Amino acid sequence: MVVDLAVAGWMVVLLAAAVLLTHASATNPFISNVDFDWVKEVKEFDERKTGVKGLVDAGVKEIPRLFVHPQEVIDRYPTAKGAAVELPVIDLIGVESGGARQREVVEAIGKAAREWGFFSIINHGIPLETMKAMLESIKRFHELPDEEKESLYTYERSKLVKWNSNLPAQKGDPAFGMDVLNVVYTNDHLDPNEIPSACRKETDEYVKYMIEVRELMAELFSEALGLPSDYLSKMECMKSQSISCLYYPACPEPHKTLGAPKHSDTTFLTLLIQDTLGGLQMLRDKQWVDIPPVPRALIANFGDLMQILSNDEFISVEHRVLSQLAGPRISVATFSTPSTRAAGKPFGPIKELITNEKPAVYRDFMFEEYFQYYKTKGARVESAFEDFIGSSCMIM
Ligand code: OGA
Ligand code: NI
Repeated sequence: MVVDLAVAGWMVVLLAAAVLLTHASATNPFISNVDFDWVKEVKEFDERKTGVKGLVDAGVKEIPRLFVHPQEVIDRYPTAKGAAVELPVIDLIGVESGGARQREVVEAIGKAAREWGFFSIINHGIPLETMKAMLESIKRFHELPDEEKESLYTYERSKLVKWNSNLPAQKGDPAFGMDVLNVVYTNDHLDPNEIPSACRKETDEYVKYMIEVRELMAELFSEALGLPSDYLSKMECMKSQSISCLYYPACPEPHKTLGAPKHSDTTFLTLLIQDTLGGLQMLRDKQWVDIPPVPRALIANFGDLMQILSNDEFISVEHRVLSQLAGPRISVATFSTPSTRAAGKPFGPIKELITNEKPAVYRDFMFEEYFQYYKTKGARVESAFEDFIGSSCMIM
C-alpha cells in the first residue's frame, strides 16, 4: 500500500496533539456534576490567555473552584515511605563498548521496564549545563510578558508550537495547576524559527540529546525484549518528539488541587527532566511513590503504546504531580511518538513476542483510532487498554 503522505502527516500532528490533550488528562471517576457554571468558567479562563500563572500573578489567595479536585480523589492512595520505593537507576557508563557491560545494562533495563515502568538514567551524556539551560529557558518563556506569549496561546491541534493550560476536555472535570508550551518535532524535525526566541537555542540543542538517548534506548529496549537491536529503531515508532515544557506556578492552596492528575502517558517513551522542587509521584502497589529530583538524572517511563507494543512485557504506570506552595516548578517531558511513515501503518503487539503461551493481549489498530479514542473520551480515560484488548486482527 502506498502511504498517503498527507494523511500520514496529519496523523503525526494528531498524535503529537493528542499527547498534549491526554498526557495529563484528569482521570476523575468521581465527578459527574459540579454546582457551578463549568462552561462559563472555562471560557473566561481561556479567554484571558494568561494561563494558571496569570491567576497567581493576579494574587489569588483561594484557588478558583474550577481547579478544586475532590479530596477523596486526591487522597485515594497513601504515599509510600522508605528505601524500598526508590526508583531503579540505570547507569549507562560504558554501555557503548558492548560486551558484558552492555548485557548488564540490558538486563537492568529489562527488569526495571517489567517491574517498575519507571527508572532514572545516569551517565546519559547530556551535559548538566544543557539540562539546566533548557529548564531556565522554559521558565523564561513562561515568564514573558503576557502580550509576548499571547499569539502562541491556542488549543489548535495542528499547531506544532503552542502553549496553553491543558484544560480538561470533559465538562465538569477540574482544571489543574500547570501551563505548558508544547513543541513538536515531526520525524525529528522542526524549523527552529517556529520556536519562541526565549527558548529556541536551548530547545534545539536539548532535542538533539533527546534523539540520541532515544536511539540508544530503542536499541537497549529491543535487546531487553529479545529482539534484534535495531528492531524498534527500524519501526520508527519513537521517531517524532513532542516536548511538553511545563510550568507549575506556586499554588496558594496546594492540598485542594493537583499539578497534574493521575494519568498514564499515551505514547511510547517519556524522558523527563525536572528542577529541584519535586512533586512527581508514581503509583506502585496502590501507593504513591515520590520521584525526587536528582540533578543529573533523566527520568524515563513508558506510555500505554509501549505496553501494547511489548504485549504487556513493559508496563505503563500511572503518575501525578502534586501542587505546592513553593513555585514555580519547571519540568520538561519529551514524548516519543511515531514517524509519519510508522503512523500510516497498523499497530499492535510485536509479532515476535506473540506465542502460544503468551497470545496477543491487544488487537491491531491504526494510531488514528487510538488517539481519536482519547480525543472523544478526553479527560475520563484512565487508560485505553481495555478498548484495545482483543485478538490480533488487521483493521485497514
Ligand atoms: C507529563 C508528566 C511530570 C512532571 O507531562 O505527562 O507526567 O514532572 N509530567 O511534570
Ligand atoms: Ni505523564
